[in-house]
Amino acid sequence: MPDTLLVTGGAGYVGSHCVRALLDAGHRVVVFDNLRQGHRAAVAPEAELEVGDLADKAAVGRVFARHRIDAILHFAGNIQVGESMRRPFLYLGDNVQCAVNLLEAAAEHGVRRFVLSSTCAIFGAPERVPIDEDVSIAPGSAYGESKYLIERILRWADEVHGIRYACLRYFNAAGAHPDLPLFEDHEPETHLIPLALDCALGKRPAMQVFGDDYPTPDGTCVRDYVHVCDLADAHVKVLDLIRDRSRSFNVGIGRGYSVREVLAAVARVTGTTFPVDVSPRRAGDLAQLVADPARIMTELGWRPRFADIDAIVASAWRWRRRYPRGYADLATGM
Ligand code: UFG
Repeated sequence: MPDTLLVTGGAGYVGSHCVRALLDAGHRVVVFDNLRQGHRAAVAPEAELEVGDLADKAAVGRVFARHRIDAILHFAGNIQVGESMRRPFLYLGDNVQCAVNLLEAAAEHGVRRFVLSSTCAIFGAPERVPIDEDVSIAPGSAYGESKYLIERILRWADEVHGIRYACLRYFNAAGAHPDLPLFEDHEPETHLIPLALDCALGKRPAMQVFGDDYPTPDGTCVRDYVHVCDLADAHVKVLDLIRDRSRSFNVGIGRGYSVREVLAAVARVTGTTFPVDVSPRRAGDLAQLVADPARIMTELGWRPRFADIDAIVASAWRWRRRYPRGYADLATGM
């Protein structure tokens, strides 16, 4: 049945892909975004865009007064692990307070379903890999802690207000929409694949590999890169499941690629080579983060359509090549 869904951060990278998937599934979508990190051009024209800040309780209240919301998908927030270790209170304060403002309004307006964009960063240095949902939670950054605090707050939203929730703990969101101009465009960009694509375009002189002395097969960090459209599909599917009960899922493809393997994929897909230098380890990085996606596959019937790194990189390359300055180029019709 079509629902009216409130998507916070719907102008951002994962949020905008999710909005597209929700519209394609027949839902009505209201996007709430302050457009500080997000891009107006990333919001699907069929969605209604409400520009506002979750820190502004009155603005949040107005959105709920204007629309009868059936469920919320919460993507908005500060998302940089490194920044969170320099400015922990921005994460532990603002990220958490904004989620509370949203939940307060949700409870007041009788909303009963909530999907949280969470992260594998809640596991810190995991006791085992691949990481299933029973691995101990011990965030290694203020960013991971802020998401975990929101996960805990959701338990009380369920207990006290009957708000059923899903926590989707993404591994490394990557790639871009295969058909529509939706892509990753962060300022500043810190992620491996877009930075490597910029090297392929000649926009950056060289790629830095942050450490090659990790206990992994080639010494560089291993991550589980999950395509952003597959993440979006998980959100569409989980909305039905949480009509009955709350649930948490780790969302990754269950296969890891090292930094060097990703850079090799970028070279293959783009047909270019670029200098690669090894620099010291980046603070907070862990050797290996790979999901065990058994629970989400069994309970949601979720299957990643993009299971290999070349296909993921190729989807991002298509738009990066066409719009090297991201949405700024798209807006000017470059
Ligand atoms: N890396 C480099 N050079 C770069 C950029 C990244 O070697 O210029 C390496 C990183 O050290 C890491 C890997 O590439 O080993 C992936 O790094 P990203 O910055 O692309 O992604 P992260 O794994 O650091 O972060 C992602 C999400 C976070 C999430 C985190 C969980 O972006 O939101 O996973 O660990 F919290």
